[in-house]
Amino acid sequence: MIYYFSGTGNSKWVAEQLASKTSDVAENMIGQATIPSIDNQAIGLVFPIHAWGVPEPVMDFVKQLSGKPEFAFGVCTYGGEAGLAMERLSDSFPLDSAYSIIMPNNYVMGSELESREKIASKIADARAKLDQIAEQIIAKQPVFDVYTGNFPWIKSSLFNMGFNVAARRTSPFFVTDKCISCGQCARDCPVKTITMIDGRPQWGKECYQCTACINLCPTKAIEYGKGTAMRCRYWIEDYLEQKTP
Ligand SMILES: Cc1cc2nc3c(=O)[nH]c(=O)nc-3n(C[C@H](O)[C@H](O)[C@H](O)COP(=O)(O)O)c2cc1C
Repeated sequence: MIYYFSGTGNSKWVAEQLASKTSDVAENMIGQATIPSIDNQAIGLVFPIHAWGVPEPVMDFVKQLSGKPEFAFGVCTYGGEAGLAMERLSDSFPLDSAYSIIMPNNYVMGSELESREKIASKIADARAKLDQIAEQIIAKQPVFDVYTGNFPWIKSSLFNMGFNVAARRTSPFFVTDKCISCGQCARDCPVKTITMIDGRPQWGKECYQCTACINLCPTKAIEYGKGTAMRCRYWIEDYLEQKTP
């Protein structure tokens, strides 16, 4: 089984591609009705890098898993550098193999996103790399193929702590008049922090900053502070010829 966490679809797509190439099944780790048993099974974890670290729901998920897998692999998707996230994950949930796959950056609150050409080229490169990873997973090869980037220790400790403590605020979120009250943001939110009040989304306190609400809004009505108004939005489905289920 391959479990994924995903905000804008990159990690979901990677998990589904790997599942299809290795005759496995991909499932969202959010919303699992029961705690999955992984005893003697091959298990994969696919998720985005958030601030050179592992997103909180992924760490929460692995801490609940019971049993000893026959083979465990992790794949992180990232925009530029992954830091020591896979080492940190392996401290809590030992991995036999770890990979990173560079994908389009979705952190619209942090900076302008990439051009359409750059996004398309990253996805094309990822397709080629996925073939290679799938072969190694089928052969259960122990591989550590992760791009950590520069000064990973500082980024994965101090910067990551700063992100988790100070940058996951919801107070800067607001909607403009473009909001059509469709409620998609509330449905997409993995932590269910968004409630629709008088047809407008209201954010609660908890937030992973996955960017699903702001990036997937069909009318681009969601903003975060003053920085996002002039920036593009990203959702992988806009770049796939065949939409994923
Ligand atoms: C809050 C946040 C922090 C991020 N931090 C990093 C980072 O430290 N390094 C990096 O390379 N990409 C970073 N990214 C980019 C994502 O890891 C990348 O776009 C990922 O593929 C998104 O996957 P998803 O669509 O499955 O959510 C960050 C994205 C978000 C939303």
